[in-house]
Amino acid sequence: MKIWYVGAYGIVSTTAMIGGMLIQKNDFHRTGLVSELPYFEGIEKHAPLRFEFGGHEIRKVENAYVASLQHWEANRHFERELLEKVREELERIKARKGTALNCGGGVQALGELETLESENLNLAEIVERLERDLREFADEDTVMINSASTEPLLNYSREYHGSLDGFERMIEEDRKEYASASILYAYVALKNGIPYGNFTPSAGSAIPALKELAIEKKVPHAGNDGKTGETLVKTTLAPMFAYRNLKVLGWMSYNILGDLDGLVLSHSENKESKVISKDKVLEKVYGYSPFSITQIEYFPSLVDNKTAFDFIHFEGFLGTKMKFYFIWDAIDAIVAAPLTIDIARFLLFAKKKGVYGVIKEMGFFFKSPMESDNVNTHSQFEELVRWFQELA
Ligand SMILES: NC(=O)c1ccc[n+]([C@@H]2O[C@H](COP(=O)([O-])OP(=O)(O)OC[C@H]3O[C@@H](n4cnc5c(N)ncnc54)[C@H](O)[C@@H]3O)[C@@H](O)[C@H]2O)c1
Repeated sequence: MKIWYVGAYGIVSTTAMIGGMLIQKNDFHRTGLVSELPYFEGIEKHAPLRFEFGGHEIRKVENAYVASLQHWEANRHFERELLEKVREELERIKARKGTALNCGGGVQALGELETLESENLNLAEIVERLERDLREFADEDTVMINSASTEPLLNYSREYHGSLDGFERMIEEDRKEYASASILYAYVALKNGIPYGNFTPSAGSAIPALKELAIEKKVPHAGNDGKTGETLVKTTLAPMFAYRNLKVLGWMSYNILGDLDGLVLSHSENKESKVISKDKVLEKVYGYSPFSITQIEYFPSLVDNKTAFDFIHFEGFLGTKMKFYFIWDAIDAIVAAPLTIDIARFLLFAKKKGVYGVIKEMGFFFKSPMESDNVNTHSQFEELVRWFQELA
């Protein structure tokens, strides 16, 4: 299968490429890949673990090997020899120039950028270029994954985002103030029959216009925002209090991280969508809103080693108050990368089975599952297994 990463030189995308290439060479075990669990036996018929990778990028970097090496030097997140084993394949991956339209100050701070809008193109021309790149790469077995930096909240307009006609009018009229990079990439994928997975909290395909397009073109899509770390633990643990009829009074989540993701999220406009995505889950589990603090702070020396401290205050029998604490200390790209491969595989599986529109049953993979209020990891997992087994 082919995976087109938006944000191809990021640490999540490059780590996924390296892992995918090593697995393909039978050089590595598959720990961390949900789709390799026995529940999903048969998925390889539809989405085998053989890959070609491509993508869009906005940072000026020579190729995916150079990008991987930069991430490796900052993080040393796996054995260096693994990188060298796939060096030639990575060197062949040269991302195409993308758009950073309305991606906020956080993205501008990433360094020297090369974007389509700096060529003074209008929206129709930007879309045409993105589409041309994708078409040159794609075949029937291609999926687009958005793993680019988090954008600020979309300047939502019912007129331009509420219907496909309106969306296409936005492009025609060059109303750039209503566009954002993620919705343009998603548009191009869905328009060309390519399943789309949004690993970020950016809008992506989650606007009515693009949901309409997905139905019209009969393409599956899923999102938003990969559930990989603190929110994964939170939504796995939170139901426990509900099962035992314990009342959660307050939940504090304090996240610190470095690296490029942390740098982008240190800009308040880029951070806003991430905080909303992490914050909504408790209300969905409990049906009431405990007092909640969700903080994400940039901590440069940690690089990709994200650390989260959670403190839960809860009430039990006889009104007695008690406390629970946990610390999640993980390498972000290592927990995230295999999920992007899983998402791509399940989306391709859906396409082959003729299932299209929002794949709600893939909510297990996301912090803010589209069109679903189920954020309970346990029941999400059961839903995914049931969905797969019924279709397989
Ligand atoms: N555990 C995790 O790591 C995790 C979990 C959930 C979501 N995410 C999200 O996944 C995304 C990627 O995370 P990362 O750690 O790899 O970040 P990263 O900064 O290493 O990678 C992002 C890449 O996207 C590129 N980019 C930015 N805007 C772009 C655009 N408009 N078009 C094309 N490329 C663009 C950047 O130059 C960079 O190379 C982030 O949005 C992050 O919030 C990560």
